[in-house]
Amino acid sequence: MTPNKWNIPDLGFGVGLRSVHYDHILEHRPPVDWFEVISETYLESGGRVRYVLDRVAEQYPIVLHGVSLSVGSSDPVNFGYLKLLKALADRVRSPYISDHLCWTGVNAHNVHDLLPIPYTEESLRHITQKVKQVMEFMERPLVLENVSTYAQFSSSSMSEWEFHARLMEDSQCGMLMDVNNIYVSAYNHGFDPKEFIDRIDPALVCQYHLAGHTNKGTHLLDTHNDHVIDEVWELYQYAYQRTGGRNTLLEWDEDIPDFDVVHQEALKAREYRTAEQVAPSGPRVRPSTPPVMRLTPLEKNERVNSMSHDL
Ligand SMILES: [Fe+2]
Repeated sequence: MTPNKWNIPDLGFGVGLRSVHYDHILEHRPPVDWFEVISETYLESGGRVRYVLDRVAEQYPIVLHGVSLSVGSSDPVNFGYLKLLKALADRVRSPYISDHLCWTGVNAHNVHDLLPIPYTEESLRHITQKVKQVMEFMERPLVLENVSTYAQFSSSSMSEWEFHARLMEDSQCGMLMDVNNIYVSAYNHGFDPKEFIDRIDPALVCQYHLAGHTNKGTHLLDTHNDHVIDEVWELYQYAYQRTGGRNTLLEWDEDIPDFDVVHQEALKAREYRTAEQVAPSGPRVRPSTPPVMRLTPLEKNERVNSMSHDL
C-alpha cells in the first residue's frame, strides 16, 4: 500500500449526489461514506438546491468535482470561476477539488463536453502553467481525471499515461483515476489498460471513479447508465493493489435507479479491496478492438449526445 503524496484520507466508498435522490437522502440519511458533488450545480445556486447541499454537508464528507476548469483550453485560467469554486469548497469543506484533463470550450464559450487534448510538449507546458495557477489560487490539492476519448491527435508525441505522469511531476497536481475511462479508451484505441495503470506513480493517485458504459461493438461509450462490468471491477482491483485505499466513487448519471441500487453498486468495491495480490507486471490484456477508431458522422453525433455525462 502506498500513501498518497498529500495525505488525503481514504473516505471510503461514495456516490455522486444527484437531484433524483435528494428526498431519499434527506429522509433516510443512508450510511454513505461520502458524496461527490458536481461543482457547477451548486456554484451560484440558492433555494432548495443550496438547502439540500448544506444539509448533506452537515452529515457527510463532500468532495467537489468540476466539469468547467478546462485546463486543456487555449483560454487563460478563469479566475471568476475559481473565486466561486473556492467559496463553495470552503462552504462544504472539500479537502481537495477535482476536474478533468481535457478542454471544454474556447473563447469563454463552454460546449459542455470533455474533449481530448493533444499529448505534446507544447500542450504539456501550457497545461502545467494553468494547473499551477489554479492550485495556488485554490490553496488545496487539484486532482485531474483521465477522460474517455473517441479520437486521438496525430500530432501527439507521447501516450496519455506519459502525459498525465509528466503533468503531475511538473505541476504537483494529483490524479483521479477513472478506471472505467481507462477501460473505455483502451478499447477504443487498442492499448493495454494495465500499462496505463502501471505507468502512473501510485503515490499520485488520490481517488478512483467507477461507472458503467455502453458497448457499441466497434467502440465503447462512457454512458454511466448501468452497472460496472466485471472487467472494470478487475481493473479496479489491479489498480487498488498498487495504491491501497483511496476514495472510491461510483458514478451513475443516466437511467438512474433507486438510491439503494447505486449505493450497493458502490459498496461492491469492498470485495475487490481484499482480493488476492496480483503483481503489477502481470500479463497484458489488450482489448480486442481495431487499433485506430474512425468515427462516422452519425457516431460522432451519438457520442456528442452522450458525452456530457462523462463526469
Ligand atoms: Fe469519472
